[in-house]
Amino acid sequence: MYLDDDLDPIARAVQRVLEGYLAFFYDAWVNQNINAISGDYVEFGSWGANTMNMSYQAMVLSGRADRHLWAYDSFQPLPEATDERDYHPGWNPGGPMGGGGVEKFHEACARHGIPREAYTATEGYFDTTLPPLGTDGDPTDIAVCLIDCNMYSSAVTVFDFLESRLKHGMILAFDDYFCWSPERISGEQSVMLEFARDHPQWHFERYRDFHRAGTSFVVQHADQIPR
Ligand SMILES: C[S@@+](CC[C@H](N)C(=O)[O-])C[C@H]1O[C@@H](n2cnc3c(N)ncnc32)[C@H](O)[C@@H]1O
Repeated sequence: MYLDDDLDPIARAVQRVLEGYLAFFYDAWVNQNINAISGDYVEFGSWGANTMNMSYQAMVLSGRADRHLWAYDSFQPLPEATDERDYHPGWNPGGPMGGGGVEKFHEACARHGIPREAYTATEGYFDTTLPPLGTDGDPTDIAVCLIDCNMYSSAVTVFDFLESRLKHGMILAFDDYFCWSPERISGEQSVMLEFARDHPQWHFERYRDFHRAGTSFVVQHADQIPR
């Protein structure tokens, strides 16, 4: 097969990445509908509203516009490192990724046609905005969750929040699962593997990859897995 010379190769590559996200979100939402998995979409790391937009469009395409969207982000640069596993050649803790405040996020959502009442955006660093481990509070029922916060320590806070909200059938996706470095594995991957080691009641079944670094899992009760 020959590539179309008329297409700019960079544009083609970017297009392929976006199509990968959309295909992932569409399949995830259709599967949650077919499999009768209730719940909302929750995202940790939402800043530019790109993944929020793709998940929303796919969710509507799947025939369900009634699931609420929850966006958590500082809407500021990445936090300072608190663990050596926060460092990565691709980003700097405390560095410029993110920023602009939540108003820019609202503007991007409006441009994408996401109704204001369809989502809740919570601004601030996770260690101050996420209810502590074991505390009740929205969102309580999660069907699809995307973790896109890059740093190890951020993902630890997210898992503390998710622990009491995990449920059989939830799809848990990571944007930076395959972001390793010469020294260590990905921070998001480390946190998930540590959590799985310490919580054997949960099984994480590999579901779909969606770009060079992103992948997803179906959360399952471990006692459902034949051994
Ligand atoms: C890669 S960006 C998210 C991009 C977004 N998914 C999109 O599609 O536009 C990562 C975001 O996670 C945020 N983040 C990382 N750690 C955080 C923490 N501990 N608390 C709040 N936000 C955090 C960063 O500030 C940054 O805005």
